[in-house]
Amino acid sequence: MELALHTVSKIMGRTDVVNRGSLQKAFSAFKLELVKSDYTQPTEESKDVEVRSCANPKRDWGEAPDVSIFYNRSAELLQLRRWLLEERCRLVALLGIGGIGKSTLAVKLGLQVQSEFDVVVWRSLHSSPPVGDKLTSILQFSLWSARKEVLIPDSFDGKLSKLIECLSSNRCLIILDNAETILSSGGQTGLCRPGYEGYAQSIKTIAEVPHNSCVILTSTEKPREIGLLEGEATKVKSL
Ligand SMILES: Nc1ncnc2c1ncn2[C@@H]1O[C@H](COP(=O)(O)OP(=O)(O)O)[C@@H](O)[C@H]1O
Ligand SMILES: [Mg+2]
Repeated sequence: MELALHTVSKIMGRTDVVNRGSLQKAFSAFKLELVKSDYTQPTEESKDVEVRSCANPKRDWGEAPDVSIFYNRSAELLQLRRWLLEERCRLVALLGIGGIGKSTLAVKLGLQVQSEFDVVVWRSLHSSPPVGDKLTSILQFSLWSARKEVLIPDSFDGKLSKLIECLSSNRCLIILDNAETILSSGGQTGLCRPGYEGYAQSIKTIAEVPHNSCVILTSTEKPREIGLLEGEATKVKSL
């Protein structure tokens, strides 16, 4: 049928992009007409997910910093590993002034514990992305790597419930770096900036609703929700 074997295996596997001509040839070999509902167009985002994740389909370290040079912090790493693996904390904040080593520690910890998780996602909030966009990006990767249908609701509430569903059915480690960018600048209140309240609601829900995953935040300022919920007996901690 004039198709290379690897193209046929891409079509049968449905994991890789092929051009429409190849699909048409494959369908006509089986005397089938190719119609729109038989295929989807690759989007820029889905291509991005595939390329960055092909090394390991379950881990997306995004733009996480390199930690090949790393000193000390063994007491902190031990404490954090205990919170994640033994106490199964749902929300952990790494707090401290800029440059103290929060992002580095978060990557080091993530690399040490990643084999205990089904999905690992690193995202920076550095450019203050709208909460909906960030939830979409996390869901796209998490659903895709959990081999679930990547159907993402349009509404914020829909996205948040989908995320909680995903955090319950899989053990995910989600690291959100630079969370201070979504907090109101200058103030010491830890309140979310106007327009970013969705993050506060997401943090609260992730902390309060039972699931099997962990979200780590790094921030120069403690988000208010964490201050209110953290404690000895809760699954919310800060370091
Ligand atoms: N434990 C460490 N060992 C070696 N270098 C470190 C360590 N922690 C941080 N650094 C270095 O210090 C700098 C600031 O660390 P970073 O993690 O970016 O801080 P933060 O996220 O708190 O702003 C980086 O260049 C990083 O490589
Ligand atoms: Mg940092």
